[in-house]
Amino acid sequence: MVEAFVTSVRLLPARGGESRSGYPWELPAIAALADGIALDPRVTYLIGENGSGKSTLLEAVAVAAGMNPEGGSSNFAFSTRDSHSELSDAVRLSRGGRRPKTDFFLRAESLFTAATYLEQLAESPLDGDPLAAYGGVSLHEQSHGESFLAVLIHRFGPDGLYLLDEPEAALSTQNCLTFLRRIHELVRDGSQLVIATHSPIILAYPEATIYACGAGGVEAVAYEDAEPVRLTQSFLAARERFLAQLLTD
Ligand SMILES: Nc1ncnc2c1ncn2[C@@H]1O[C@H](COP(=O)(O)OP(=O)(O)OP(=O)(O)O)[C@@H](O)[C@H]1O
Ligand SMILES: [Mg+2]
Repeated sequence: MVEAFVTSVRLLPARGGESRSGYPWELPAIAALADGIALDPRVTYLIGENGSGKSTLLEAVAVAAGMNPEGGSSNFAFSTRDSHSELSDAVRLSRGGRRPKTDFFLRAESLFTAATYLEQLAESPLDGDPLAAYGGVSLHEQSHGESFLAVLIHRFGPDGLYLLDEPEAALSTQNCLTFLRRIHELVRDGSQLVIATHSPIILAYPEATIYACGAGGVEAVAYEDAEPVRLTQSFLAARERFLAQLLTD
C-alpha cells in the first residue's frame, strides 16, 4: 500500500499559562486530538452531527498542512477573515516519507471566493493561464455543482493531498457517484483524501477509515454503523412510518 502524506494529527499540550477554554478547545472532537488520530493513507472520512467539529478539525489540518483556511491550495493567498491560527498552531501533523505534489482544500461555501481569486489571477497571469488547470472555463460561469466537478476532475490529480468539506452540498446524487469514481482514480494514482460528509453515498468508498465526531470525541466506525447510513436506510425502508411519526399534530 502507498504511504500516507499525513499519517496522524495530534494536538500539542497547552504551553504553560496558555488558556484553552471555549471554542475550539472544548469541542470533544478537538480535545480528542490530544491522543492523536491516525489518517488513512487513502481516504479518511469525518462524520458527526451538525456542530460536532468536523469543519473545525478539517480547517486545522488544512492550515497545519500549509493550505488556505478558506479553501484552495497552499499557493492561494486570499483571505476574507482572520484565520484560526491558534488551533492550527497547536496541531501537529506527522508526515510520511512522501511529499504531496499538490494539495487542495475544497469547501462548498467558499468555492465562490476561490473562483474570484482565480479570475483575478487570470487577468494578469504570471505563469500561463491559471484557469487552464481548472478546465479552461471560469468557475463563475458554471453552476455550483459544475464548478465543483471541474475542480475535482481538472485541478485534482495524482499524488495530491485533498481535504473536502461536505462535497455533497454541491453535487447531485448522480454526481456523488461520479465523485466516488473520481476518488478511486485519485487513490489509484497515489493521492490521499480527508472528507467531511453527511452523505451515505460519498461515505461508501471501500476500505476507508470513518471517524465519527461526537460527545465522546473521535471514534472509528464501520460503514454499516455510520449514522448517515443507518438513518437513511431506516428512513427509506419505512418512509411511511417515519413520516407518520414526524408529522403528527
Ligand atoms: N468561529 C467560531 N467561534 C465560535 N464557535 C464556533 C466558531 N465556528 C464554529 N463554532 C462552533 O463550533 C462547533 C463546531 O462547528 P463546526 O463548523 O466545526 O461543525 P461541523 O461538524 O462542521 O458542523 P456541520 O455538519 O453543520 O458542518 C459548532 O457548535 C459551532 O457553533
Ligand atoms: Mg461543517
